[in-house]
Amino acid sequence: MGNLDDSLFIRTLNRQKTERTPIWLLRQAGRYQPEYRAIREKVDFLTLCKTPQLAAQVTTFACDQLETDAAIIFADILLPLEPLGAGLRFAKGDGPVIDHPVADEASLARLVDFSCDEHLHFVAEAIEIFVRERPRMPLIGFAGAPFTLASYLIEGGSSRSFDKTKTFMYRRPDLFESLMQRLTLITIDYLQMQQKAGAHCLMLFDSWVGALDRYDFARHVEPHATKIIAAVNAMRIPSIYFGTATGGMLDLMSATKATCIGVDWRSDLSQAWRMIGHDRAVQGNLEPLTLLADKDVIVDKVQAVLDQSQMRPGHIFNLGHGIMKETDPDKARYLVDLVKELSTRKIEELSRSGQGAR
Ligand code: CP3
Repeated sequence: MGNLDDSLFIRTLNRQKTERTPIWLLRQAGRYQPEYRAIREKVDFLTLCKTPQLAAQVTTFACDQLETDAAIIFADILLPLEPLGAGLRFAKGDGPVIDHPVADEASLARLVDFSCDEHLHFVAEAIEIFVRERPRMPLIGFAGAPFTLASYLIEGGSSRSFDKTKTFMYRRPDLFESLMQRLTLITIDYLQMQQKAGAHCLMLFDSWVGALDRYDFARHVEPHATKIIAAVNAMRIPSIYFGTATGGMLDLMSATKATCIGVDWRSDLSQAWRMIGHDRAVQGNLEPLTLLADKDVIVDKVQAVLDQSQMRPGHIFNLGHGIMKETDPDKARYLVDLVKELSTRKIEELSRSGQGAR
């Protein structure tokens, strides 16, 4: 297993001075690619996730085609909900469906104990294949954070307002706490498996945690996220903690001690970084719909994100959320090339003028 501490991606997570800004894209393997859609015509989504050879292939294809500075293993945050006994399906057009949602003490008690090594081993195998085939490419392993997983379990699928989740949390804080504790242990087990298989960095997706206020985040979420990040820190690899609509709680997310905090497009990156603290790396935060615009718009908005980063060491360029399925793959590649070129130029200029953080 190679140590990639000398790669641009890991050096940036460690906030070292670099020659340019690294980039990868959230959901860089997916339906915007004709090659991905061709595979999906033959196998359904869960089969794709559970077939290590295919999962590794789509992972490799995305980073090769885009020439990103990191890859993310092809999987899904909801995969652990299946062995948990919640009944996971991906219905056409409707997104994920949980057949046995958690609503009370009885449905909570029906959840099953399982080991990731036994039931999610296909993810470890996909990681092993990828690392063997692309030994110089940093690979991100990932898991859903307890709150976001709990929201799918309680809502029974995707939601806009998370009414059921919040109502459950307020009415039965005891049961909510026990669910969060259980999901925390599963997440640690799942991330440990991925690190052992060869992942170089681990990312925690708390996509919907921005639905909470600061009080509820601090009370119901932060202790669990902190425990998971502590477990990753003990593995001695970098962690990324990501959520959307979290502009009001970035300082609390940073308190988990994650190496890097993901920032969505709603925040100004320079304000966000100040709130997170300059002793952390940040990842983000181009509005994903920008990739549907003309190239001159993309240039302007990439410039704005790079300017907001002030070219401080520790910025990983990314979209503020997943790439849209309507995106032209050539535009995604254009973005990657553009960030490499513009950030190289900005850092050269800074070092010539002897100013700034470089
Ligand atoms: O390239 C990558 O980024 C790696 C793969 C990846 C997927 N899901 C593949 C996927 C990652 C990192 C995820 C994480 C994930 N899954 C999150 C957190 C990130 C985020 O976007 O906030 C969440 C909330 C999920 C849950 C999930 N999975 C939903 C809501 C859906 C339906 C989405 C939709 O637009 O239909 C999925 C399915 C899914 N996961 C797809 C992919 C490529 C599309 C499935 C298909 O091929 O039909």
